[in-house]
Amino acid sequence: MSSLLVDNIGALTTNDEGIGTGPTGVLHDAAMVVEAGTVVWTGPRSRAVRSTDERVDARGCAVVPGFVDSHAHLVFAGDRTDEFVARVSGVRYSAGGIFSTVAATREASSAALEANLDRLVREALASGTTTIECKSGYGLTVEDEAKSLQIARRHTPEVTYLGAHVVPPEYSAKPDDYVHLVCSEMLERCSPLAKWVDVFCDRGAFDADQAAAVLRAGAARGLQARAHANQLGPGPGVQVAVAAGAASADHCTYLTDADIELLASSATVATLLPAAEFSTRSPYPDARRLLDAGVKVALASDCNPGSSYTTNIPFCIALAVREMGMTPDEALWSATRGGALALRRDDIGSLAPGMRADFVLLDAPSHVHLAYRPGTPIVAGVWRAGQARPAQGRDARGTTR
Ligand code: NIG
Ligand code: FE
Repeated sequence: MSSLLVDNIGALTTNDEGIGTGPTGVLHDAAMVVEAGTVVWTGPRSRAVRSTDERVDARGCAVVPGFVDSHAHLVFAGDRTDEFVARVSGVRYSAGGIFSTVAATREASSAALEANLDRLVREALASGTTTIECKSGYGLTVEDEAKSLQIARRHTPEVTYLGAHVVPPEYSAKPDDYVHLVCSEMLERCSPLAKWVDVFCDRGAFDADQAAAVLRAGAARGLQARAHANQLGPGPGVQVAVAAGAASADHCTYLTDADIELLASSATVATLLPAAEFSTRSPYPDARRLLDAGVKVALASDCNPGSSYTTNIPFCIALAVREMGMTPDEALWSATRGGALALRRDDIGSLAPGMRADFVLLDAPSHVHLAYRPGTPIVAGVWRAGQARPAQGRDARGTTR
């Protein structure tokens, strides 16, 4: 059983509610001990055991939990640069852009789809994402959705069936037939391959009745619910998600007071995806309003080739702090523990004893630098289950990994 001492940590964000006053449980001049991939101890460095197999010297820098990205669409082919350029000159984002990715994804081989997914998972990991959720939703036939999920599940256990992303062109005249397919033959094929069922409940996608039917059918096959809600305008998405007992309602860009009250009185997390608002030039969701109402908030990337082509959670944290009224502490919590709640995981998202040792070393004295130094690769080291993985930035010892 291998053991690791992470020593000389200037500021250790544990998210351990037993530590300190706030939810982030920050320890200064701290150390952490890991055994067999699990955190076994955190505390003042003067009290740490020194007899471990390995030691990492954090040189006074900050250590934070690995990011939990609870919303990503990584099984796709093709590129939507032109759509992005059109948006920059004023064209509005709509759900319709999804069709071009569907066409490219259907054309692509499994090997090409998997190579692209693998590239993105590595990219995410190098910027500190130690858990990532992955949706289907660019196949939209029984075969292509099943193929997407087969690929995704080789890379993450957080796999989501999103057959109800949009109505594909061949069903445009008979959308209810497509909903039937999503809830019957496609679901039968896909449910053994996924943990979650998701639906895009918005204009240009599925209405409240259709979305509720998809989540209900998924639940009957053992899939837990999550939903794309209130991204493109006000609407019933949040209500549908909460009524279905969804783990998370994602986007939450356009919410009424009633939506916020509903979220606050439910166990449904509001997952905010500010990189999508950045890329689509939309208004940012008001995280402050949600937090002040007592809603649990997660932050995720929404990585996809249309509305948010980034895997970078530090970028999302910077946007959340600059544009959405979150404090740096809240943004980090939401990108770690909040993401874990949105995935109903109790083994990740914090560095309390017993949790999986997923952590990130920053080339910075404090986690605030995630927002304070936007665009700078300060993720200097990444460990997943206690194992060091390649990181994007300089490490605290001044070398480049
Ligand atoms: O979460 N809203 C729906 N789905 C994605 C966008 C997908 C796309 O544009 O390809 C999203 O933003
Ligand atoms: Fe999405």
